[in-house]
Amino acid sequence: MLLCLVGAPAVADDVPPPGASSCAVCHAACGPVPAAPPCLRNRTPDQIAEALDAYRTGTRTGTVMPYLAKGFSREEIRALAEHLGQAAPR
Ligand code: HEC
Repeated sequence: MLLCLVGAPAVADDVPPPGASSCAVCHAACGPVPAAPPCLRNRTPDQIAEALDAYRTGTRTGTVMPYLAKGFSREEIRALAEHLGQAAPR
C-alpha cells in the first residue's frame, strides 16, 4: 500500500511536487478493494493530468476533486501527474 506513495527518490526529479502528499491521504488505497477514490498508481500521467484539468474547468464532475483541482495551476497539475502516474500501466 505504501508503494503508492513513496517511490524512493533516487533522482532529484523524483522529489514530490507541492501538494502531492495531500493526494495520498485519499488515494493511498491501492488494494483489491475498489475504494471510492480510485487508485492513481495504474493511471498514466496523461490520464491524471486530463482528469485534473477536466475537474478544474468543470467538464468533469465529482465530490471533492473539482474543489481540489481548482487549487492547482496547469504546471502544478502536470508535475503532480508526472509524479503520481506510472508511465506503463499494467
Ligand atoms: C478528500 C479526498 C481526496 C483527496 C485529498 C484527493 N482526491 Fe482525487 N479523488 C477523490 C475522489 C472521491 C475521487 C472520485 C471523484 C470525485 O468524487 O471527486 C477522486 C478522483 C481523482 C482522479 C480521477 C481518477 C480517475 O481516473 O477516475 C484523479 C486523477 C485524482 N483524484 C487525483 C488527485 C490528486 C492529484 C490529488 C492531490 C492534489 C487528489 N486527487 C486528492 C478523493 C480525493
